Amino acid sequence: MLSEQMLNMLNEQINAELYSAYMYQAMSAWAADQDLKGLSNWMDCQAQEEVTHARMIYEYVQERGGRVLLAAIDGPPTDWDDAVAVAENVLEHEQKVTGLINGLVDQAIEEKDHATRSFLDWFVDEQVEEEDSANDLVATLRLASQSPGGMLMIDRELAARTYTPPAPEED
Ligand SMILES: [Fe+2]
Ligand SMILES: [Fe+2]
Repeated sequence: MLSEQMLNMLNEQINAELYSAYMYQAMSAWAADQDLKGLSNWMDCQAQEEVTHARMIYEYVQERGGRVLLAAIDGPPTDWDDAVAVAENVLEHEQKVTGLINGLVDQAIEEKDHATRSFLDWFVDEQVEEEDSANDLVATLRLASQSPGGMLMIDRELAARTYTPPAPEED
């Protein structure tokens, strides 16, 4: 069984993942409004990925006999100065999420909750990828913003991203 503290933290993480989805969806809407179709697509894929993260934790809590409690999701920002500012916000946000995941792992270790610690391993690895792709996005958009036509080229590249939901677990 999950401890009360662990359960609360996992429920809070479900909220944080859904907030991430909400924030990326807001970024996707902003980019669409700026006619940055590729960036909009990239953010849309990202939003779907975050919903999957929330669902994974949701299912894990239930699997452990815990009660999922959904709380209000904060409103995301709606305006950014430019595409680079959006990317910088992504990076800053993912660094914050990494901190939250690390906090969950610390708690699981402290409680000797090996099942939760093992479950969280996937998220630890995922955050390495998330920060890496956010860093890439910042660097690429900074470069693109310096040359005429650069943004157009990069936007086409970002349009190619697709989202594939993870294969359902067999149990
Ligand atoms: Fe996430
Ligand atoms: Fe993320």
